[in-house]
Amino acid sequence: MAVLQLEDGSIYTNIGAIASQLAVLNIEIDRLPTNENPTIQELLAQDILNVTEKQQILTAFKTEFAYFKRVSGCQWCDLKVLHPGSQQIYALMTQSNRTHTHADAEVIHILAGECVFGFVYANGSQIQLMLQAAEYIKVPANTEHWFYLTPLLYLKAVQYYTTAQGWVPEYTNRKVTIQN
Ligand SMILES: [Fe+2]
Repeated sequence: MAVLQLEDGSIYTNIGAIASQLAVLNIEIDRLPTNENPTIQELLAQDILNVTEKQQILTAFKTEFAYFKRVSGCQWCDLKVLHPGSQQIYALMTQSNRTHTHADAEVIHILAGECVFGFVYANGSQIQLMLQAAEYIKVPANTEHWFYLTPLLYLKAVQYYTTAQGWVPEYTNRKVTIQN
């Protein structure tokens, strides 16, 4: 269940209310149906997935890919798999958590685990959004944000890209002041 935290301490857990709060930044958030296939559920519960297993999961979510292709122009997707032993954890914690923008949209569909996005309102106040399984977010191009994992250090998510390069970060070096 998504949780939105504002800098004044307000907390929103209703997805419709969260969507309204994010609409001013043209950010879209919603839920997608869960894939109930037992094989897919088992794969999503594993820490480590080989290339074939990752492909199995991406194939199981091909309807979602078609949807994001149609509505957002996404042409590529891949499966991000992070767990406490992942080699990419360190890079993620030291790079993605810095405030940045991308020239393309960032679309991500959470399949397991959780993550946090941070954004800045036009008045400079900061917000943080925690996302969990079955939720997706579409962050428009050039929207300042940051990203990190919760203490679970656990995430499986499909990332959708509108360009072959994927999300190339342009760091904005803003200080994140909102309390976790
Ligand atoms: Fe990003």
